[in-house]
Formats: sequence, C-alpha cells, structure tokens
Amino acid sequence: MGLLYRSLAMLVVLIWLSRLAHLSAQSSSGQAPALDVLLQDYAYRAFVHPKTGVPYDAQVPSNLSGIQIAALRLRSGSLYRRGVVYKEFEFPVGVNESPYAERLVLVYQNLGNWSLVYYPLPGYSYLAPVLGLLAYDAIDLSAKNLPYLDIAATVDPIKIKFQDVKPTPDGTVAKCVTFDLDGSVNFSNVGSGNACSAFKQGHFAIVVESIAPSPSPVTSGSPPTPTPGGRGKKKSNSKTWIIVGSVLGGLALLALLAFLVLWGRKYRERKHLEEMEKAADVGEALHMTTVGDTKAPSAMVTRTQPTIESEYVP
Ligand SMILES: *[C@@H]1O[C@H](CO)[C@@H](O)[C@H](O)[C@H]1NC(C)=O
Ligand SMILES: *[C@@H]1O[C@H](CO)[C@@H](O)[C@H](O)[C@H]1NC(C)=O
Ligand SMILES: *[C@@H]1O[C@H](CO)[C@@H](O)[C@H](O)[C@H]1NC(C)=O
Repeated sequence: MGLLYRSLAMLVVLIWLSRLAHLSAQSSSGQAPALDVLLQDYAYRAFVHPKTGVPYDAQVPSNLSGIQIAALRLRSGSLYRRGVVYKEFEFPVGVNESPYAERLVLVYQNLGNWSLVYYPLPGYSYLAPVLGLLAYDAIDLSAKNLPYLDIAATVDPIKIKFQDVKPTPDGTVAKCVTFDLDGSVNFSNVGSGNACSAFKQGHFAIVVESIAPSPSPVTSGSPPTPTPGGRGKKKSNSKTWIIVGSVLGGLALLALLAFLVLWGRKYRERKHLEEMEKAADVGEALHMTTVGDTKAPSAMVTRTQPTIESEYVP
C-alpha cells in the first residue's frame, strides 16, 4: 500500500515537472516557428494571378493585425545572376538555395508590434521591428506547411536596410540582431544607413541594451501606440503567473496526497490497535474465567506489605 502511494506521488510530481518544462520552453521563442508556418500559408494566398518578379502584399488573420507580409516569386537562376531588391532586403548576385528549386517564393515578414511577443529579447529594447525573410519552393502555390529552403549569399551578404529606426538613446550602441531559424541569436554592428548584413534566411532587427529597468521597450513603427512593450511585459507576467500557479497547484496536490498517505497510515494503525484491543479483551476474558480466583490472593499480597515496613520500626 505504502509503495502505491509513493509511486502515485512520484507520478504527480513528474507530470507537474514536465508541464513546467513545457511552459518555460514555450516562453522563449517557441511560438516563432509556428508563426512562420502560418505566415507562409497567408503569404501564398496573395498569389491569385501572380507575375514572376512582382511582390504581392498579403493579408494576415485578424488576430495578428499589426504584422505585414508579402510574397515574391522568382526564378532561382534570375535571383542568382541578377539579385533583387525586395522591401528592406537587398539581394546581391550569388544568392543560391538548397535544395534546388527552379522557382522560389521569398516570404517577407514585418512583425511590427508583435516583435517582442514572438522574439522576446531580455535585456534589450527594439529600435526597429523584427523583419523576416524565408524562402520556399514555388512549385505549388496552394501548399501549406512547406519546409523552408536554405538560401546562402555566396559573394556579398544580403543587406537589410531598416526604415523608421528609433533614435539610439544616449550612452548606448545600436546592434543588429539575427535570429537563426534554429533558435540561435547573434549580434553584429549596424552598418551605415541602418543596414544589417545576413548570409542566410532568418529574422533580423536593430536593438539596444536596455538601460537599467527601462519600462519602455517600444517596438513598432507606429508612434501613437505606447502599449507594445507593456503588452510583452503583461504576457511574460501572465506566463510567470501560470508557472507560479502550476507550482502552487502541484504543491497543493502533493499536500493532499501526503494527507491521504498519513490518513491511510493512521487508519491502518487504528485498525491494528483495535484488533489488538479486541485480542486483549478476549485474552482477559479467558484469564478471568480460567484463573478467576487468583485475583484475591494477589490483592492480599499487597496488603501484607506492612510486615516489611515493620522491619524499620524498632
Ligand atoms: C490566428 O487565427 C488563425 C486563423 O483563424 C489561426 O490559424 C491561428 O492559430 C491564430 N493564431 C494565433 C496566434 O492566435
Ligand atoms: C498591434 O497593433 C494592432 C493594431 O494596429 C492591434 O490590433 C494588435 O493587438 C497589436 N498587437 C500587440 C501584440 O500589441
Ligand atoms: C552565430 O554565432 C555562432 C557562434 O558564435 C556561429 O557559429 C554562427 O555561425 C553564427 N550565426 C550567424 C547566422 O552568424
């Protein structure tokens, strides 16, 4: 029985721990790959009668308003030989893709006020929103869940010329930040004209290190919205609360289990005691019946005590 209780308690602890691990993994950039998948789908919907080499702006679902996306279909040979300028991205000659695709689609993302939500960067503030560029095969324009193609700049880097960059606060240095699709984050210097360089696909932004507990890491290009930073904070706050709640819930469950175990043990002990008492009662009854008269002589023995006492009396 005790073993059962203990393994049950162990199981509960394990379940809560795995839930916690899941939550904390999610609170990094765990949602970003799912966003890429969704935005690929919505970007491809802009292709109704698409012309090669023409960028099309696409609609995002209303629950993601504030994000801008576009799609551009190209022959890969043309991209390699001539390069292309597409929104903030300048592709030099020599950019190829793997695996090979005859035509590819470049999906552009501007995460706007959602930058902090999908790419939280503790200790930094965004001066420009996160821009994403992902390449996909263009063979099926109604495809969803497409794997991205690896693009590589083989001659010069791809340049990202950020627009509407917020002024760098005094005493800080702006940095380019690159979010690799594998989740790694790299920083580099900002080039002239607010330009960052990249050798492959990914997500890019300009950031500064936050000064002390700065409460205003504003993201988007639209100035009359003071909320985005707060939104991100609130979100991470609610996550903290979820984690705290999980811990407390787990503890409460454990307490309940411990109580049950103790109660079970107490119950068994009482049962045991009752049984022993019952056995004792039976024994006493037997004792009474068989040697009922021995009680009187034993009482007399105590009464003879005074004879010992008399030894001390002179
Ligand atoms: C937004 O809405 C789309 C379509 O309605 C849905 O597929 C997606 O999961 C939603 N995304 C978020 C982050 O709520
Ligand atoms: C971003 O701004 C849009 C309005 O432009 C709003 O609907 C959306 O909720 C905002 N997103 C965040 C994360 O604040
Ligand atoms: C990021 O930095 C790591 C280690 O410093 C390096 O191996 C990796 O190639 C870099 N990634 C990019 C995209 O520069």
